[in-house]
Amino acid sequence: MFDYPIFEMPFIGHRLLFAFDAILHVFISHGAAVGGSIILALTQWLAIKNNDHKLDALSYKILFTFFILATAVGALTGIGIWIHINIINPAAIGALLRVFFWKWFIEWIVFNAEMILLLWLFLIWKKHPLGTQGKKKVFNLVLSYAVASWLTMAIITAILGFMMTPGNWLKSYFPAEPDYMAALFNPSWIPSLGFRTFWSIAWAAAMAMLLTWFFTKKDLELRQKAMRLFGTVLLVCIPFFVLFGAWYYAQFPQAAKDLFWMGAITRRLAAHPEYATYLIVALSSMVLIGAVSLYTKPKHAPVFLAVMMLIGSMGLIGEFERVREFVRKPYIIYDYMYANGVRVADVPYLNKTGYLKHAAFVPPEFREVNEQNKLVAGKYLYQMQCRYCHTTNGINSVKARTAGLSEEAIYIRIGSLNSPATPFMPPFTGTDAERKALAAYLASLATHDKPALAYQKQLDEVKK
Ligand code: HEC
Repeated sequence: MFDYPIFEMPFIGHRLLFAFDAILHVFISHGAAVGGSIILALTQWLAIKNNDHKLDALSYKILFTFFILATAVGALTGIGIWIHINIINPAAIGALLRVFFWKWFIEWIVFNAEMILLLWLFLIWKKHPLGTQGKKKVFNLVLSYAVASWLTMAIITAILGFMMTPGNWLKSYFPAEPDYMAALFNPSWIPSLGFRTFWSIAWAAAMAMLLTWFFTKKDLELRQKAMRLFGTVLLVCIPFFVLFGAWYYAQFPQAAKDLFWMGAITRRLAAHPEYATYLIVALSSMVLIGAVSLYTKPKHAPVFLAVMMLIGSMGLIGEFERVREFVRKPYIIYDYMYANGVRVADVPYLNKTGYLKHAAFVPPEFREVNEQNKLVAGKYLYQMQCRYCHTTNGINSVKARTAGLSEEAIYIRIGSLNSPATPFMPPFTGTDAERKALAAYLASLATHDKPALAYQKQLDEVKK
């Protein structure tokens, strides 16, 4: 096993922390970088073509905002994602790196080029005002920046698509000769790339509309022109990302489609799939009403409409990422590796020989379960197989999920984690003794007033 010392995220858990970071990253990378650079190229092209100094000045202000967002928030949350996935699921990142090493390396180079182009663009913009020969250089830089931003997204989307639909990579002569081209051209790559491309442009246009409102308080003519421009871009993109979205959805494995409604809301509300429809309709209406009003009455529409449109877009993006992550469960790489890093093919072997035996960061005295160490061993099992989605006491707490169950009942429940009622959970992996140890630990959380004491006692005894 590819391993890492155990790190538990108290209260909010890894799932939520990761979601915060990743969704914030998506807002910025898709909006300020990918879509933003395309919007910028369009406004620059129009400004040069019509010798429009006002549009040129406005696009500089928008560039300035996107620049701050992309370099500060975008790049930092990107690093946050790397740190977090390495801590929480080193096995998965190891597998992805093995398959996508060179593609990822290229992505890293392109990403650096993207940042350098952005800085460069920013530094030379004012030196070459509209009407001078050098403006063409500015435009070429904007275009190169847009191409670089889109290329990084194209590669990352291939990896994300692969996690959902590894496709023929697994069907090739695996593992001796995995088919790397099949991994890249996995079935959901192109549709999801098209989907994300148009959605990024639409989302950047929505952001540009809000910024335009603030930057054109004194020039309503410019506001009208810019709102119409960005509004047209946004509305034109919608049918494209809906079409690509439908094509993308069609590539999902059936089991993932079956989880769709549960992912769109919470499990507790899964009996009411109509709530998910209401939510999506409400968010889409916020975007459409905002965009259409700003488009038709740009001089009189209040800023509230632009803010509402932005909140609606953020809600839709967050909802999409949540669903995409949820429906992939119980896997992290579909059919190949479970969300907790256990490879599907290893399960029978680990069930026979023991899971802890192969856990590099568990002290040797806890790798073989016995009566003296079972609480501590159980805790290690919990940490390695469950903490990815559960916490002990906080969100989706395993203590609450097992409340009222006896140790025996917990033992039985552990045997059917991946059941039709909870198909999103990976099965428990390990020997019967390990399953009993995990049940003992989980039961100790509920039955002892101070479970930590019982646990500590065992830990001290074993260490003696
Ligand atoms: C891939 C994520 C994931 C992993 C890994 C995971 N669980 Fe869960 N588990 C969930 C989710 C999501 C729920 C449902 C929470 C809800 O009802 O809202 C859940 C619910 C449960 C429940 C309540 C089931 C019920 O019938 O209501 C138990 C018990 C449980 N988990 C135990 C475990 C144990 C023990 C492990 C580790 C061996 C584990 N889970 C690993 C995601 C996971």
